[in-house]
Amino acid sequence: MDKFRIKGGKALRGTVEISGAKNSALPAMAAALLTAEKVTLHNVPKVRDLITMAKLLAFMDAKVSVTEVPASDYLIEAPTLNHAEAPYELVKTMRASILTLGPLMARLGMARVSLPGGCAIGARPVDLHLKALEQMGVEISTSHGYIEARASKRRLKGAHIVFEKITVTGTENILMAAALAEGETVLENSAREPEVTDLVALLRKMGAKIEGEGTSTLRIRGVKKLHGTEHTVIPDRIETGTFLVAGAITGGDLTIKNCAPEHLGAVIAKMQQAGVPIETVNKTTLRVRGAQKLVGSDMTTEEYPGFATDMQAQYMALATQAEGTSVITETIFENRYLHASEMIRMGANISVDGRRAVVRGPAQLSGTTVQASDLRASAGLVLAGLVASGETFIDRVYHIDRGYEGIVEKLQGVGAHIERVHALAS
Ligand code: EPU
Repeated sequence: MDKFRIKGGKALRGTVEISGAKNSALPAMAAALLTAEKVTLHNVPKVRDLITMAKLLAFMDAKVSVTEVPASDYLIEAPTLNHAEAPYELVKTMRASILTLGPLMARLGMARVSLPGGCAIGARPVDLHLKALEQMGVEISTSHGYIEARASKRRLKGAHIVFEKITVTGTENILMAAALAEGETVLENSAREPEVTDLVALLRKMGAKIEGEGTSTLRIRGVKKLHGTEHTVIPDRIETGTFLVAGAITGGDLTIKNCAPEHLGAVIAKMQQAGVPIETVNKTTLRVRGAQKLVGSDMTTEEYPGFATDMQAQYMALATQAEGTSVITETIFENRYLHASEMIRMGANISVDGRRAVVRGPAQLSGTTVQASDLRASAGLVLAGLVASGETFIDRVYHIDRGYEGIVEKLQGVGAHIERVHALAS
């Protein structure tokens, strides 16, 4: 397994370019199953999860091709789908495989999708996806670890669905199912994340009739057929936020290009409150510099437009360097503090009690070998390594490869001393 070796203490300076959003590209690829025609996606990041999604679509007999220049484009064409199945081998490596359930039900009226198990950050059930599909006329049973779903009629029927809890991929799944259903579907308490809005934009280009994106009520008037289109995936707001912290934590000066500052309102506001100078240079560019004085500031994760849970580990790394106390409250996932124990091993002063973590700073971190436990935890540890004294080795970086395109090269490009140590050489 590859590792990262980081020599901390270098202020990062220069320009980084943000890639397309993994969590937008995933539902966009699944949405291509809704039509027999070609869907071309631009600005798809080169990350492992999207390769897994491509394998999954290919398993179902969709044709997926990738062009590399200038950025990565995915061309997906699914004239016929012969295997309406997401097998365990693929689902276990990527929970977002569940996103194929809605499109398969809409297009074929049947699907067999492996139940995603729990993962490092929590139990992560999919009950809300299934309940909503049942309301749309789908019979669901689970056996041998698989969700077996079958529509009682050829087309799903529109329904009034109130999500008990806000769910991002749940909203996306049902949006896709409803796009081809008979009649109107209303989704209440739906997710307002920019990735959901991006999916609506794509579905609309494919001929779907949807209103209400960006609000918690979505209205979908089902159509009989969707067609092919082209779409450019939005910039990755979590990668952007990660580089904002990288610039701030190292006392550097980074210009972050090809991003969408309007998707980072809560993150920018919180970092500014902690004393970090962040400037919106234009609609696609941010500049971040080291704080004159970094101060502790409490933070609670929330659904969008609140502070993203996917930025919590990175914020915790920043909080270790701030003067005073930062109380962090994680409200979305029950077990998302695995990075905290690794940061403590690096010298951070953090105490965790259930969903609350209290970080006292500033602490001089010192490099050691740490384990990455999930994608965003890995990002938090990379950031901690960038300010630690001496060398930090991060194990199990396959987690970070799932969602950050070229993170080593991008960090090297702005002066970080980081390298990938390949398994054989380690
Ligand atoms: N939940 C249920 N039942 C459901 C669905 C969700 O109880 O049927 C619970 C979850 O257990 C969790 C909460 O609702 O406590 C929110 O989960 P949500 O469904 O919104 O999460 P998700 O759709 O599985 C997406 C992102 C995650 C991100 C979360 C929250 C994708 C592919 N994944 O997951 O991204 O953390 O929303 O914003 O979009 C990541 O990129 O590292 C990542 C984990």
